Amino acid sequence: MKLSSEQRDQFERDGYLFFPGLFSREETSLLTGAVPELYARREVFNVREKDSDAVRTNFAAHLYSVPFAKLARHPRMIDPVRELFDEDVYMHQFKINGKMAFEGDVWQWHQDYGTWLNDDLMPTERAMNVAIFLDDVNEYNGPLMFIRGSHKRGVVDAKHDVSTTSYPLWTIDHDLVRQLVQRAGGKNGGIASPKGPAGSMILFHSCLVHASSSNLSPWDRVSVYLSLCTISNHIRRFKRPEYIAHRDFSPIMTLPDDCLVKDYAVDLPWKDGMPQSALRTSTEELKVAA
Ligand code: SIN
Ligand code: MN
Repeated sequence: MKLSSEQRDQFERDGYLFFPGLFSREETSLLTGAVPELYARREVFNVREKDSDAVRTNFAAHLYSVPFAKLARHPRMIDPVRELFDEDVYMHQFKINGKMAFEGDVWQWHQDYGTWLNDDLMPTERAMNVAIFLDDVNEYNGPLMFIRGSHKRGVVDAKHDVSTTSYPLWTIDHDLVRQLVQRAGGKNGGIASPKGPAGSMILFHSCLVHASSSNLSPWDRVSVYLSLCTISNHIRRFKRPEYIAHRDFSPIMTLPDDCLVKDYAVDLPWKDGMPQSALRTSTEELKVAA
């Protein structure tokens, strides 16, 4: 998939690109159908909501689930990112966020690169998020909200919030959010919220400020997020466990475009369980050859 010059300009200006219905119903349902069994596992890689048993986020399914291992190598997701960076990418993080009906909690205002810098010592913002909707996303089930163009501010001040939800995050205070929204156009387009059918995809810049509210609707809002980092920009610290911040910096090799609906062999290194080493953490900075 080649990006047009209009799409490149739009990404530069807004910090995101939206591709409604990029994956077919057939492709999406193969992924959605695999989620309940993954969420049912009583494993550390399933982070549940603070006050309920619903899964907030499942990590690293591409290492133990065939459909998600294929998605992680899908050219419709990987190629545009490789093209925007003009460099190969590796998988920094892979998650399936639940935002389940009635129970999905908020994601506070944050930038992903803030966390990757503060926790993982990722040197620069040359990394990208790709979201794919596994359910239809509407105004009721907690769609992502972006502050348009906020990626241009680089890394903004953030505080480590370890109490609001079950998942720690470097979050941005309300005054700064107010200012950023105002500068982005206030009520006239300062906040954008892409909505669309299951199978839609969003590419968004790692410094784009985003959030989502809770899901009080009767509809799940399961979405997959690939966080792709350029090879030369790999993280320099393993402060978070490996199932959250990956340590395999080899370039992603894409599969053919029909990989979700056809049989292709994929490696599943954690199919018999996550290795103990994936829980090991360190505050040491990696030594990287100059
Ligand atoms: C995230 O920002 O990582 C997740 C946001 C969401 O799923 O709504
Ligand atoms: Mn995020």
